[in-house]
Amino acid sequence: MKESVCLYPGSFDPVTLGHMDVIRRAAKIFDRVVVGVLHNPEKQGLFSVEQRVKMLREACKTIPQAEVIAYGGLLAQLTKEQGITVVIRGLRGVSDLESETAMARINGQLNPGLETLFLPADPAFREISASMVRQLLAFGADLAPYVPRAVIKEINKSFPNKHQKTRED
Ligand code: PNS
Repeated sequence: MKESVCLYPGSFDPVTLGHMDVIRRAAKIFDRVVVGVLHNPEKQGLFSVEQRVKMLREACKTIPQAEVIAYGGLLAQLTKEQGITVVIRGLRGVSDLESETAMARINGQLNPGLETLFLPADPAFREISASMVRQLLAFGADLAPYVPRAVIKEINKSFPNKHQKTRED
């Protein structure tokens, strides 16, 4: 039987526990989950694309179905290139619905046959977003409840002035 594949796209600047929950749940439905760090080459995030991929790969180490790639173009083009027909997006609440529906429709127009499936966020992770994490980091708040350990490790390596507590501290 043909293996089932989905693309889980995002900026992942950085990956959060909410993203990880979506990846784990998608891995129960699909044989392969391609986690795509989609980035605009003209826009710089807080973390470089290489750092985002590295953090995601480490966080996904225990999820054999997941593979992490980076792509600097249109989602529709990526799915065409990879022969992927399903995109997964997490919905934190109704406020996400309008923009996510618009994105799903545009992607479906650019790549006819491409379907977007929405997974409702687990209430435990509903409030977490990467932009919130970046803001908390700027003010030195503890990020452990919101991000995987790979992110804490990368912050302590790349932003020593923003050192986060770890179990080893
Ligand atoms: O994590 P985010 O920032 O909500 O993810 C948004 C993302 C990266 C999935 C979206 O911006 C995207 O698909 N970018 C690639 C460019 C593209 O295809 N744009 C058209 C979709 S309307």
